[in-house]
Amino acid sequence: MALVSRFAQPISGSTSLVGVLGDPVRHSLSPVMHNAALKGLGLDWVYLALPTPAEHLGEVLRGLEAMDCRGLNVTLPHKQAVAALCRELSPLAERVGAVNTLVRLPNGGWLGDNTDVEGFLAPLRAGGSSWQGQRAVVLGCGGSARAVIAGLVELGCAAIQVAGRSSAHLEALLAPCRSWAKPLQGLQWTPSNRALQNALADADLVVNTTPVGMASATDPDAARRCPLSPGDLETLRPGSTVYDLIYTPRPTALLQNASARGCQSLDGLEMLVQQGAASLRLWSGLAEVPVTAMRQAALQQLKIEIKQGES
Ligand SMILES: NC(=O)c1ccc[n+]([C@@H]2O[C@H](COP(=O)([O-])OP(=O)(O)OC[C@H]3O[C@@H](n4cnc5c(N)ncnc54)[C@H](OP(=O)(O)O)[C@@H]3O)[C@@H](O)[C@H]2O)c1
Repeated sequence: MALVSRFAQPISGSTSLVGVLGDPVRHSLSPVMHNAALKGLGLDWVYLALPTPAEHLGEVLRGLEAMDCRGLNVTLPHKQAVAALCRELSPLAERVGAVNTLVRLPNGGWLGDNTDVEGFLAPLRAGGSSWQGQRAVVLGCGGSARAVIAGLVELGCAAIQVAGRSSAHLEALLAPCRSWAKPLQGLQWTPSNRALQNALADADLVVNTTPVGMASATDPDAARRCPLSPGDLETLRPGSTVYDLIYTPRPTALLQNASARGCQSLDGLEMLVQQGAASLRLWSGLAEVPVTAMRQAALQQLKIEIKQGES
């Protein structure tokens, strides 16, 4: 007899597995998004969060392949390490140096791909603006910054200035990108830095890739923080676009301040939804997946989590 889940198709002996590997991963919005899409498509698959400690990543991948798992997302802290365990990498995953999607290869093993770039680009392209020749500033130089840089290069940005507080981390990010990201420059990020303020004043697009301002269950003040100081915020050009990869809270303090300056604002929810939709297209081979259902499921889950946090 089939078990009926709240989110997906009835689960039976023929149901296939897809999921996300991470550690921790129980907080992930991907299961609700993907199960809503699977239900919409009528696909007999179920998507699960699969907690995977780093020391077991290789055996988990081999086991899931042996169990005919249809596809996987990969999140922190495995996005870089998993690349070495893939039989093939897409050119984009190689360029970004990170894998967030694993696709089964017909002759065995996994293809590592990266849909974060497509997710990042989707809301920028949806606005209908051309970013060709525009100037961008990226705040932070961690894991997501490289996907953001790849996206900005694809848009044809004329200048990409990356601000990092650690010169070693900044250089570690910039060095492998220089061969394919010609307009790239590093900026040492210190308080009230004139070079950063000048870059912000000239920027058409500012992207926050730091976690500063992200809500935290353990730190009630976290959601009030802004990665830019009041002096930095004053240099933002009205009419420019500020894009924060964070999606809790909505809006973040950065986006509230940016809107008050007359900037356009984008948060990270659409990136999350669109990277998931792109992964599902890769696993299923379908050109169209129910993006609206994925977005609604993610929003509903965020509302539930906010209510739980308040009670
Ligand atoms: N919407 C989406 O789909 C999506 C996708 C990916 C990531 N994200 C969000 O993006 C954020 C970053 O993720 P990530 O994977 O790139 O993290 P990460 O690899 O840890 O990188 C974070 C970067 O932010 C910098 N940073 C942290 N605190 C800072 C501060 N107080 N001042 C200045 N810089 C600071 C770090 O500096 P150091 O190098 O000095 O440590 C690092 O360069 C997270 O909030 C994540 O949830 C969203």
